[in-house]
Amino acid sequence: MAEKKKLSTADILAAARKNAAGGATPPPAEKQPAADAPAEVTPPSAPIAAESAGDSPAATPKSARAGGAKPSVADILAAARANKAAAGGAAAQPAAAKPAAAKPAAEKPAAKPKADKPAAAKPAAASGPAVRDTSSILAAARAASKPGPVSKSEAAARAKPAVPAKSAKGESAVPPMPAKPDYAKPKATKEAPQEERRFFLGVLVGSFLGLGFSTLSATGGLWTLAVLRYMFPNVLTEPPSKFKIGFPSDFPPGVVEEKFKAQFGIWPVNVEYKGQRQIVAIKTVCTHLGCTPNWLEAEQKFKCPCHGSGFYKDGINFEGPAPRPLERYAIRLADDGQLEVDKSRTFQEELGQWSDASCFVSV
Ligand code: FES
Repeated sequence: MAEKKKLSTADILAAARKNAAGGATPPPAEKQPAADAPAEVTPPSAPIAAESAGDSPAATPKSARAGGAKPSVADILAAARANKAAAGGAAAQPAAAKPAAAKPAAEKPAAKPKADKPAAAKPAAASGPAVRDTSSILAAARAASKPGPVSKSEAAARAKPAVPAKSAKGESAVPPMPAKPDYAKPKATKEAPQEERRFFLGVLVGSFLGLGFSTLSATGGLWTLAVLRYMFPNVLTEPPSKFKIGFPSDFPPGVVEEKFKAQFGIWPVNVEYKGQRQIVAIKTVCTHLGCTPNWLEAEQKFKCPCHGSGFYKDGINFEGPAPRPLERYAIRLADDGQLEVDKSRTFQEELGQWSDASCFVSV
């Protein structure tokens, strides 16, 4: 007779509530969906309770556990929805609040004793919709400078040197250089002798180098002058070939004038040659080997001191090795009446040149 009827979810929930209350089963007309309970407004602490509960078995309402009764299906569903809402993120939290509101009113006091929740969670719930995750909680805990183990990255960050402060111009302020210690400073007492030795060596080397360069310069200058002197030939400063010896009246007959022997190498003589009185200029060179004969007034002859050759007053050789008579220079009467001798021309007796009028002046 009893016909097996398929129960809906609402019926299952109603049966579960009945069992939990231990009372009679309400009529089916009283059945209402759990989601339609408008009187049950979720308190602000409901999301925190759901979040702190997580997906652990502790999410089970304490009222059910405190009584030692078996959790009802409604609690199980509420816990499942709470877990689903936590997995869906913060955007899904309002949606998860609705199933939580379906909790019976008797379960609300069970949420209050959760005073042993983490202290950091309460300020976050009071501040409103601020998102709090595990990393932010850890950062806040580490910011409190509590001693304890740190990660490698944190240790490296703490070991980093402090960034130098920047000046007003925006440049990095460089710390001042520390003062040099005494042992690093130069010792003046020990450097002085070394400096003196260096100075002495410098002067010594400089003196030798200076002397060497001076000698080299002097030698080079002398060599330059010698080369220049070699490039230019000697210039003979001979007396002019033509010169005047005076007027014919200055030379009396039979007199040999010797005052021109040293300067001009001539003997002006007023002699008679082949029956003609002449003033001639005799050359003072021996015809033997070129020596200079001497006039011997006492002996009235020219005598060569080299080999003894003797010449008469007119220059004819008569003794000694001289092979020929003494030579004559050209002579003439100049425009001013003076006798002018020309040594560029000579006349020899053996060649018959003495008969040339250019070699005598008739008086
Ligand atoms: Fe005059 Fe010999 S050089 S005699």
